[in-house]
Amino acid sequence: MSSDGKLIIFDTTLRDGEQSPGASMTRDEKVRIAKALERMKVDIIEAGFPIASVGDFESVQAVAEAVKDSTVCGLARALEKDINRAGEALKNANSSRIHTFIATSPIHMKMKLRMEPDMVLEQAIAAVKMARKFTDNVEFSPEDAGRSETDFLCRIIEAVIDAGATTINIPDTVGYNLPNQFGDLIATLINRIPNSDKAVFSVHCHNDLGLAVANSLSAVLNGARQVECTINGLGERAGNASLEEVVMAVRTRQDLFTCDTELDTTQIVPCSRLVSGITGFPVQPNKAIVGANAFAHESGIHQDGVLKSRETYEIMRAQDVGWSENRIVLGKHSGRNALKTRLEDLGIEMSSEEELNETFARFKDLADKKHEIFDEDLQALVADTNKMAINEYVKLVSLKVCSETGEIPEAEIVINLNGEECSATAQGSGPVDAAYKAIEQVVSSNTELQLYSVNNITSGTDSQGEVTVRLSHDGRIVHGQGADTDIVIASTKAYINALNKVMLPEEREHPQLGDV
Ligand code: KIV
Ligand code: ZN
Repeated sequence: MSSDGKLIIFDTTLRDGEQSPGASMTRDEKVRIAKALERMKVDIIEAGFPIASVGDFESVQAVAEAVKDSTVCGLARALEKDINRAGEALKNANSSRIHTFIATSPIHMKMKLRMEPDMVLEQAIAAVKMARKFTDNVEFSPEDAGRSETDFLCRIIEAVIDAGATTINIPDTVGYNLPNQFGDLIATLINRIPNSDKAVFSVHCHNDLGLAVANSLSAVLNGARQVECTINGLGERAGNASLEEVVMAVRTRQDLFTCDTELDTTQIVPCSRLVSGITGFPVQPNKAIVGANAFAHESGIHQDGVLKSRETYEIMRAQDVGWSENRIVLGKHSGRNALKTRLEDLGIEMSSEEELNETFARFKDLADKKHEIFDEDLQALVADTNKMAINEYVKLVSLKVCSETGEIPEAEIVINLNGEECSATAQGSGPVDAAYKAIEQVVSSNTELQLYSVNNITSGTDSQGEVTVRLSHDGRIVHGQGADTDIVIASTKAYINALNKVMLPEEREHPQLGDV
């Protein structure tokens, strides 16, 4: 099959991904993820929505300054104040894009915007012209295109291309379309719009019916050459198309696709773990590509087949997406340099000597408890070190738990609360419950625990457990994660990580709060 070029990957983990309830990230966390996306050779990173909050403006600014190889994009409604703010935030980027949007579906125009279609058209043209004053790389999205009238889409898209839009993104904002219908829509737009060859057609699919990836791929088969997606499929409501699934489907089925991405797919798993660790959104074990079971064969027939020839049951190589083959990597005798080298192989950069020292000390602690350290352990360790590095209002000093048959479990905890050491003892229905009650005696957070889940990071009883908790506080949702070979300590770390997010609201205000 002949190739007609490149499929552009536009990652919106830091913008639409952050719109998942509880997934808000600090500026430094966004920069860390942006650097990982850059390492993966993502073409465009949508870093945020600068008008939404001061925090989001500063995050886009910081990403624009930190990233050199990928284009950094800021979102703006089709309004002068939004576009100016986006232009300002992106000022120092090596390569920048402004992404401006306005809704075009009858229901959005009538009920949300209260505007006639002709006014929407004029506003879209004006927005694109304004954005072009900041950059010649301007993307326009007719929001809710998936429920818009095709004739109106053709009119508005032709006009914004004439006004200077270089990418036309077709969002299925509410995840309503089916793959054949969405593919037909893309083909129709490209065929009917006279100047469609002057812009790249892009798609942005939501997963409300579980079809975001299928719709995106159908669009690519029908001429789209940019896909907007997120790591682990994070995103508003049921999420966005998952980057790893789109990229690997196109790469694996080159017999059907006439284009391919230029991504370094070996960065997929490290990046997935980074995003999961920072947002606290766990990856389900059976998730395609990045789930713990994605390359695990349980049935005897499958195992036998794979041993005889890997291709009998595997359509991709685990190492091509970043799962390491030689999984035992380090042990208690490994030195600081070995650790640093392995972290670099995993695409993990230490930002300072101090961070490396801290990670090494924690690595030694872990190696004392667990003789074989796997890549997954290192990734969890770094995620934990990074959590410690963020402003900590609550710190765990020590924890003692008694759990015995026939006795009520009891936890004794010492916590450093904003510089002051406080202790408490509590009983609970289990050791984790007792530990959480003891923490609450000290902190009185007034939060509600909505989710508690434990996953083992590797296999075996000496594996580290990774605990995820979700807390709600005054309608706000935050996630926390913690890893340790001791499950009660992992649970305590996860709870404290979430509490720190609750206690430091100014850093993590949800970008969509306020009037935007
Ligand atoms: O889902 C959507 O329509 C969006 C737009 C801003 C592209 O996120
Ligand atoms: Zn979206």
